Amino acid sequence: MYYEDFAPGAGRRAPRAAFRSDAPALSLNGTWRFHLSPSVAAAPQGVGAVDFDDSGWGELRVPAHWQMHGYGAPAYTNVNYPFPVDPPFVPDENPTGDYRREFDVPASWDGLGAVLRFEGVDSCFTAWLNGEPLGYSMGSRLPVEFDVTAALRPGARNILAVRVHQWSAGSYLEDQDMWWLSGIFRDVTLLARPAGGLDDFFVHADYDHTTGRGILRVDTSVPARLTLPELGLTGVPADGPHQIDAVEPWSAEMPRLYRGFLATESERVEIAIGFRTVAITDGVLTVNGRRIVLQGVNRHEWHPDHGRALTEQTMRADLLLMKQHNINAVRTSHYPPHPRFLELCDELGMWVIDECDLETHGFRQVGWRRNPSDDPRWREAFLDRMRRMVERDKNHPSVIMWSLGNESGTGQNLAAMAEWTRQRDPSRPIHYEHDRDSRYVDVYSRMYPSHEEVDQIGRRAEPPLPDQAADEHRRALPFIMCEYAHAMGNGPGGLAEYQGLFEKYRRCQGGFVWEWLDHGIRQRTADGREYFAYGGDFGEELHDGNFVADGLFFPDRTPSPGAGELKKVIEPVRITGGPGGLQIRNRYDFRDLSHLDFHWSLEDDGVRVDGGVLEVPALAAGESVEVPLPKLPATNGEAWLTVSAVLAADEPWAPAGHEVAWGQVRVHEPAPRAAGAPGPVANLDLGDFDPVTGRLTRLGPIALDGPQLDLWRAPTDNDRLGGSIARTWRKVGLHRLRHRVVGIDAGTEEYVVRTRVAPAAVDVAMLATYRWTVDGNGLLLTLEVEPEGEWPCPLPRLGLRLAVPGSLGQVEWFGRGPGEAYPDTRQAARVGRFAMSVDALQTPYVRPQENGSRTQVRWATLTDGAGVGMRFEGRPYFEFTARRWTTEDLAAARHTVDLAPRDRVYVNLDLAQHGIGTASCGPGVLPQYELPARPATFQIAMRPVMAE
Ligand code: GAL
Repeated sequence: MYYEDFAPGAGRRAPRAAFRSDAPALSLNGTWRFHLSPSVAAAPQGVGAVDFDDSGWGELRVPAHWQMHGYGAPAYTNVNYPFPVDPPFVPDENPTGDYRREFDVPASWDGLGAVLRFEGVDSCFTAWLNGEPLGYSMGSRLPVEFDVTAALRPGARNILAVRVHQWSAGSYLEDQDMWWLSGIFRDVTLLARPAGGLDDFFVHADYDHTTGRGILRVDTSVPARLTLPELGLTGVPADGPHQIDAVEPWSAEMPRLYRGFLATESERVEIAIGFRTVAITDGVLTVNGRRIVLQGVNRHEWHPDHGRALTEQTMRADLLLMKQHNINAVRTSHYPPHPRFLELCDELGMWVIDECDLETHGFRQVGWRRNPSDDPRWREAFLDRMRRMVERDKNHPSVIMWSLGNESGTGQNLAAMAEWTRQRDPSRPIHYEHDRDSRYVDVYSRMYPSHEEVDQIGRRAEPPLPDQAADEHRRALPFIMCEYAHAMGNGPGGLAEYQGLFEKYRRCQGGFVWEWLDHGIRQRTADGREYFAYGGDFGEELHDGNFVADGLFFPDRTPSPGAGELKKVIEPVRITGGPGGLQIRNRYDFRDLSHLDFHWSLEDDGVRVDGGVLEVPALAAGESVEVPLPKLPATNGEAWLTVSAVLAADEPWAPAGHEVAWGQVRVHEPAPRAAGAPGPVANLDLGDFDPVTGRLTRLGPIALDGPQLDLWRAPTDNDRLGGSIARTWRKVGLHRLRHRVVGIDAGTEEYVVRTRVAPAAVDVAMLATYRWTVDGNGLLLTLEVEPEGEWPCPLPRLGLRLAVPGSLGQVEWFGRGPGEAYPDTRQAARVGRFAMSVDALQTPYVRPQENGSRTQVRWATLTDGAGVGMRFEGRPYFEFTARRWTTEDLAAARHTVDLAPRDRVYVNLDLAQHGIGTASCGPGVLPQYELPARPATFQIAMRPVMAE
């Protein structure tokens, strides 16, 4: 059968550029008749016939995936094929969707050629127009065209039938880590083709940075005339070449486009030209003569209700969010995006690695036996995919590199793709990561290397390849990480350290965080509460759980804390304290700072006391300057100067006032906190202690389950997966600590409780001594811990847990915020005073896990509606967490809706937490962010707060 053929298609037109023209076109998007059969054998016969009766069928929108609209179900696997590895054959249970629709074609189309264009059909389809078979095609995320001139009936009703198979030989080439979803999921258009029309063109718009000149040549399928009013070109021969003096170049930072058109006698085609030259010079990737740093993300197409069928609004939303988060690059992992997305990249400014729709990762599970990448029978299918991508997208200035695909091993078919591409478009470097020797490619690319490896590569000191010539070739290449910083759940940790390496080594030219968005599917519980589903939620027999939810943004495109962290780490302006006051560094590759305004504000103990405008010169890209501090009023407490760089005027991607970068400098240190008046514990009616457990049971008016040593956190995805430190934690028993009271010493000056804290079955322990003294109108707790025995692992956290009444739902704190922060994810947290409800402190990771800790907190209050509650004060800092469920609840929950508020607020006051790292895919926590078990002292004061 055709759907099990090595050949990628039949009856199709040659691939060509995507463009908009004034030739008539008819969108065939909309509601179609639809029928899903469980197999090809069960599918109706004769659906292509004009008189086929589809009146009993249902309906489905085009574009859409049928699984997102009640037909069949989504399924998620990462590497595994959800069918036997038996290429090119597919299971008999091959869900087959039949589509039919009728449409009228105006009589004016008479005499014109006609082309039927599908932008994306997953995974294989065949079609009939007015009963005439048109051919078939595979390659889900690639366009296909059929010449339908002979079959079309202008001035009459036409009937189009399309049969789509979920599985095909093509599925073996589409094993990307994502949901398996089928159907006509991108636009379908009928295009009129006038005789003498422009079928294809290739823009070559180079920029010579030494002269500022642009050289423009447009190769066209038939002779055409070019008009670009801004460049004074009117109806000139397209192929020129045209030399243009003083042209403004295109870059992701300043995406200057020149708009105009190409015309033949019968057709006019819109063009948007960006002049730019990509080159690799002395082992460094440059655009327009300058080294660039890719501050990128991997973007899958995703919408929680529509899957990979995206509207323009969603594509634009992605790009606006990226620009607003200082992201300058996208790898279109792992297939060419909807063509409109690339137009928006040209317009808004984004470096793009356009990646082919190719991944054969599932062959790894069988030792790469019969991998299509090295089997000549698949050669045409590989080349076909590359041609369809390159031809479609070749005119986009934003596309600066072609990628052969992802994780498909190595082999002659990949080599052939690279060779063809090099011939067809020598102007763009070629990327492919799985070829560790970099044989086919122009950049050395890796995924998830450790910081240490990147450092080695930066020095061009990586371990040599066995083949000397290959080693010399690779060692001379620029280096990028096509994936790094796995953003699954809480994290990614360690971004700042990678950034340091991009700044240290010219060879390290950035990378692409994995990944942009969680691919969760929106669901509702019976009682209407919304949550996001992941692998296994649809009864898949084989799945990879929540590994599909590993983005910087939640499925509904609200930012996860990782997005804010990335934005801060990659900010294009660095504002720091310097010997002369403030140091401002322009980290853009091209742009000066004239588009930014700098504002300062001074806060004393978190309260704003002054502010103004900071004069900063319009530094050129790469320059730094020292500017004196503004004149500041005297402050008494802990005073911080915050300088913020904001857009001076509206940009197409954000309004004036949008913050691009910020920095903080401490300008006044408070006098050391005076100890409150000491006094005999028993004499003050401040609190009660349980005489058996020694735990505080009341503070002022507040009844509580007093502080107890806590070492456990609900494992994050990074704790759970990869090397799984959480497995060790559970093995030791950190989630089931028992507290044995060794002795209570209720003196008049001190109330001392000595405990030994340990889990069952092991002989390691923490000796924890709680020493309570009076501190003014509150109590001061000094906790001393001393590990006993050989602790085999770092600790998740070291601190105290307590529980207070659920009515204490309001939090205010002075420390870092407003968002959560952990030792290796705290760049975006600024020092300030913040107020939030307990509920708002929670981060709704798709799969619940440790979240919401506020760092370097000086003090925090928890109060009820009347302002009554408790205050905690660090000596000097603590980490603060408060939630309406326990750590155990959090660890047990599988979806956000599993978390049910209890009647208490559970509080953690930590001396420290273990870092986050990215072990879910990649390196774990860097040594400096580990939390080893070692003797420690932790002090915290607690006071009742009364209504004013
Ligand atoms: C990479 C792969 C991605 C994704 C990621 C983990 O190996 O290229 O598609 O699976 O790992 O989330």
